[in-house]
Amino acid sequence: MSKQVFNFNAGPSALPKPVLEKAQEELLNFGDSGMSVMELSHRSKTYEAVHQEAKSLLTELLEIPDNYEILFLQGGASLQFSMIPMNLLKEGKTASFVMSGSWSEKALKEAQLVGEAKILSSSKDENYRSIPEVNSSEINANDAYIHITSNNTIFGTQWSTYPDTKDVPLIADMSSDILSRPIDVSKFGMIYAGAQKNLGPSGVTVVIIRKDLLESANDQIPTILRYQTHAKADSLYHTPPTFAIYMLRNVLQWVKDQGGASGIAQTNAKKAQLLYATIDESNGFYTGHATNESRSHMNVTFTLQSEELTKSFLSEAAEKGFVGLGGHRSVGGCRASIYNAVPLEACEALRAFMVEFQNKHA
Ligand SMILES: Cc1ncc(COP(=O)(O)O)c(C=O)c1O
Repeated sequence: MSKQVFNFNAGPSALPKPVLEKAQEELLNFGDSGMSVMELSHRSKTYEAVHQEAKSLLTELLEIPDNYEILFLQGGASLQFSMIPMNLLKEGKTASFVMSGSWSEKALKEAQLVGEAKILSSSKDENYRSIPEVNSSEINANDAYIHITSNNTIFGTQWSTYPDTKDVPLIADMSSDILSRPIDVSKFGMIYAGAQKNLGPSGVTVVIIRKDLLESANDQIPTILRYQTHAKADSLYHTPPTFAIYMLRNVLQWVKDQGGASGIAQTNAKKAQLLYATIDESNGFYTGHATNESRSHMNVTFTLQSEELTKSFLSEAAEKGFVGLGGHRSVGGCRASIYNAVPLEACEALRAFMVEFQNKHA
């Protein structure tokens, strides 16, 4: 019997148990090939079927329209911070960034190395407690794109409705909330996400890009960094991370079994509600970092009344099998990451522990 833990890691993070069990079952003999999926040629029919199924499941679950291309890339979301401006930020154009946390800062910094990139709005002054307002009258028609981070993993904030950027393509880093709820893909020029929170293990990065942006992308950059290269080769230009894509396929099948994006969203709302209610009912024993309107359904950030109390909360939690509750080093305090694969029961157990800890220490 394996050790029982409640995994609240921020990423890499919990994977659905049935997905892990299936991988275990198939590990030594995938699809009657007599080999593991990791040992197959990426040009083989057996692997090809996995690759295509991952794409078609993603299309189905996110209702991706025909005028979008799905790419499976490597280099994490961080490489996208550079690839986006290299491909899409042309001479004479600007890129605008909505600053909602550390990942937005990193994305902006990379864009500034490539071209002209500026801040459209920011909540940095209030330590990124909320999603900044975007005033549509300030949108510059000369922008190549506007970039947002849809869920701020570190600060625990999330966009509830996306800004209307008119004709300027909206690009979203959805690394920490992709497929956690239904979205209207047609509102975006591009969506990207590292897999290791909601989609699978680390190693594959999903890019969903509108075909007109792809077709007009810069082709004067190194071959491997061009979106066009990967689109033309169906993400098989070079060896893809085959095991990560196989796991992605299995996670997508699991999401489908949970009722798709809307089924998952309902459970996610319940999980988040349980933890936020615990914070709100604690009479200030726990304080949430995010403002109420900007609260994330993926990362619940909170602090206790003193450093000392926070330390003992985290060490008692660890003893009880709660993993990954320490806040990011730039914010401190505590963070419970409750991505799709974290079961409701884990959130119920955490709520019970938080109440018990408060009763003992208040
Ligand atoms: C919102 C967001 N963007 C980007 C990243 C960086 O992703 P990667 O490590 O895949 O480069 C992370 C990682 O936690 C993230 O949460």
